[in-house]
Amino acid sequence: MDNRHEAGFEIVAREDFSDVTFLLEIDHPLMAKAARPGQFVITILHDHGERIPLTIADFDRERGTVTLVIQAAGKSTREMQQTCRVGTRLLSVTGPMGEPTDLGDVRKVVLVGGGLGVAPVFPQARAYKENGAYVIGIIGFRTKELVFWEDKFKACCDEFIICSDDGSVGIKGLVTEGIKRAIRKHGDIDRLVAIGPPIMMKAAAETTRPHGIETVVSLNPIMVDGTGMCGGCRVKIGDGIKFACVDGPEFDGHEVDFDDLMNRLQRYKADEKLAFEKWSEDCRQQLPEDSDPAAAGPAASGPERQQPQVDAGMFDGTYRMGMPKGK
Ligand SMILES: Cc1cc2nc3c(=O)[nH]c(=O)nc-3n(C[C@H](O)[C@H](O)[C@H](O)COP(=O)(O)OP(=O)(O)OC[C@H]3O[C@@H](n4cnc5c(N)ncnc54)[C@H](O)[C@@H]3O)c2cc1C
Ligand code: FES
Repeated sequence: MDNRHEAGFEIVAREDFSDVTFLLEIDHPLMAKAARPGQFVITILHDHGERIPLTIADFDRERGTVTLVIQAAGKSTREMQQTCRVGTRLLSVTGPMGEPTDLGDVRKVVLVGGGLGVAPVFPQARAYKENGAYVIGIIGFRTKELVFWEDKFKACCDEFIICSDDGSVGIKGLVTEGIKRAIRKHGDIDRLVAIGPPIMMKAAAETTRPHGIETVVSLNPIMVDGTGMCGGCRVKIGDGIKFACVDGPEFDGHEVDFDDLMNRLQRYKADEKLAFEKWSEDCRQQLPEDSDPAAAGPAASGPERQQPQVDAGMFDGTYRMGMPKGK
C-alpha cells in the first residue's frame, strides 16, 4: 500500500548493533535524492519530541531511503530506541543540513571512525572511493562485540585497519595507533578525516599535526534550530567563531578548540539527567501493575537504571578514551 501521503516519515528497517546502538532506515525519497556525504538531519519523534540532530549515515536513491545510526544517549534517543519499530512514523526529518563534504582533488585519504563515528564516516569513504582516491579506512571500538559495518566500510577501502581498546579484534589500542601506522607506511597522505567523540578527534588531530597532514573533523555541539539563528552550536575555530549547523559540521581539526567544545557539551548535564529520570519515571507509571518491567525495555526497569553506558562513539564530551562514560 502506498502510504506516503500519511503524516511523518515511515521507518522501513531497523537493526540493533548493541544494547545502545541501533539503525533506522527511513522512507524519504526527497531526502535520499538531496543527501550528500557529511550532511545531517534534525528529527522529531512526536508532537512533544525534542529536535535531534543525526548524521545521514547512508542514503539509497533507488529505494528512496536514508539511514541513521543512533546511540541511545539520553531521554530522546532512548525513547527512539524503545518506540521506533518498522512501520513507526517519525513526525519530522528535516534536512539535509550542513555543508556537504568537499572531496577536492584528494588522491590519498585516511578515513577514521571511532565507535559510532564509523556510521557518519562511511558515506565519505564511499564518495572518496568513487572519486578515484586511494582510501585507507581505520575504525576503532572498545571491544569486538560493539563492532558494526566492518564489511560495509571495508568494501570502500583499499587498505583497512581495525583497532580495539581491549585487543579483542584487530590492533590493540586506540585509533591513533592505526593512524600512526598509516602515516609510517604512506608518506603521501593528502587528508585525514576523523569522526567520533571530541576527545578522539582531538587526539587524531594532534597525531597528524607534526606531519602537516590536512585533518578534517565533524563537530557535534548542541544544536537547537539548525539554521544558524540561535547560536547554540557555536564553536571556536582558530581566532573566529563558527556555527556548526550552517558553517560545518566539518572543520579543520588543527584549528578547532576541542576543550571549549567539550566544556559546552557538559553545560546541560544536570537538565539532561533530570529529563531522563522524569521520562523513566513516566514510563514506569504507564506500566500495568502486574507487568514485567524488564520486558518493557531498559528505561522502564527501575529507578536504579541511570543514564545508559555508551560506546566510544558517544557524541559527548565526557567520554574518556578506552572507558565507558561515568567510570
Ligand atoms: C551534527 C550532529 C550530528 C549528530 N549525529 C549523530 C548520529 O549520527 N548518531 C547519534 O547517535 N548521535 C548524533 N548526534 C548527537 C545526538 O544529536 C545527541 O546524542 C542527542 O541529541 C541526545 O539527545 P538525548 O535527549 O537522547 O540525550 P541528552 O541526555 O539530552 O543528551 C546526551 C548528550 O547528547 C548531546 N546532546 C544533547 N542534546 C543535543 C542536541 N540538541 N544537539 C546535539 N547534541 C546534543 C550532549 O552532549 C548531551 O550531553 C549528532 C549531533 C550533531 C550536532
Ligand atoms: S543550531 Fe542554532 S545556530 Fe546552529
